[in-house]
Amino acid sequence: MSSDSFTFASDTGIAAIGLQLPPLAMDVRELAELRGVDPNKFTLGLGCDEMALCPEGYGVVQLAAGAAKRALSRWDGSLEDIGLVVVGSESALDMSRPLSAFVADELGLEGDVRSYEVKHACYGGTLALRQALEWRLSGAARGKAALVIAADVALYAPADPGEPTQGAGAVAMIIGEPKVARIATESYAYSEPAFDFWRPVGDAFPSVEGALSLDCYKRATERCFQQLVGDRDPADALGELAALCFHVPFPKMVKKGVRQLGESFGWSEEATAAFYDSMVNPTMDWNRKSGNAYTASLWISAAQALAGRKAGERIGAFSYGSGFGSELLVLEAGDAAAEGAWTADVEADLAARRLVDRGAYESLRGSHVAAAE
Ligand code: COA
Repeated sequence: MSSDSFTFASDTGIAAIGLQLPPLAMDVRELAELRGVDPNKFTLGLGCDEMALCPEGYGVVQLAAGAAKRALSRWDGSLEDIGLVVVGSESALDMSRPLSAFVADELGLEGDVRSYEVKHACYGGTLALRQALEWRLSGAARGKAALVIAADVALYAPADPGEPTQGAGAVAMIIGEPKVARIATESYAYSEPAFDFWRPVGDAFPSVEGALSLDCYKRATERCFQQLVGDRDPADALGELAALCFHVPFPKMVKKGVRQLGESFGWSEEATAAFYDSMVNPTMDWNRKSGNAYTASLWISAAQALAGRKAGERIGAFSYGSGFGSELLVLEAGDAAAEGAWTADVEADLAARRLVDRGAYESLRGSHVAAAE
């Protein structure tokens, strides 16, 4: 990709970022002991470390509103300057009332604002971001900014194979002046109708076809990156990016996606491993502390990758949502990326959160199961 392969609007991008993790977490080794599983399966086999958990009475609205307040606090505009509020999530509270209305209640946000929720499994946050970008570029925004939030609480049925991949978190982004990052208007999407992961109306927990889900994720990765690379040498094209962020159901799944990419490019195993180690693995430190936060997972990784980045450096962001849809975006760091102010959110939440033991987890799950029924 040459420097002019992408179009970056001069007046639109990410103006501010805020993150929110919930106040509890559990070490996956503790979960392994509870379930009588070798802890290495969860740590080495899946690449997990800790899973963020919500206490009773705390959920997706508190996460979304918390992230939004933090993003707003480091933005120089006011609520009157917001013309669009959109929440991407698969933790909907209601089949009709959008999560954005619950969040707007918390923020005191009302007036000349378009407000709605986007659902497409873990892809919903990226769709919300794209819609906000395209809304600004279309002229519909009339100079106003958008508040985009990706927020989720990921829970599986107790003892489900997906249990160690659980997590929670939210990322809020204000789409306005591109102080933190520009977003290329070009993007690379790929979708197929599939039943790889789904949660029918009324079901408390998702159903997963693990092997199919992995297959879909790998194919999506290959198809999206092939579009970006085009007829260039893949190493040259991707070498112009400083980091690559992925949707992180659990880190091993990302590694498998990258392995597929390397195979499709004809790279050696060693070249693919070196690419993963330098470009991808370093962007998942925060994900290892949040666990899978569904729509927020990619944006937790992208927020980490943007923090401390020099202005002008570019990163790739690959989004995947079961069902399935996927899209690869390119972001370019702005002047405020180097300071990485939003790192303080993660540091504060990790410092304040409490690690629960198996007893506390079981009673928490008891309450979650009861609340869900
Ligand atoms: N020590 C080290 N590694 C071990 C191990 C041990 N004692 N026991 C197992 N493992 C490894 C396995 O070899 C495997 O690694 P590999 O995939 O590289 O071969 C990994 O741990 C997982 O083991 P597996 O037996 O495949 O796990 P599982 O059948 O319990 O499935 C999930 C667990 C999480 C992979 C599965 O439930 C899943 O795919 N979940 C959902 C995926 C998802 O979130 N999709 C939707 C959004 S994209």
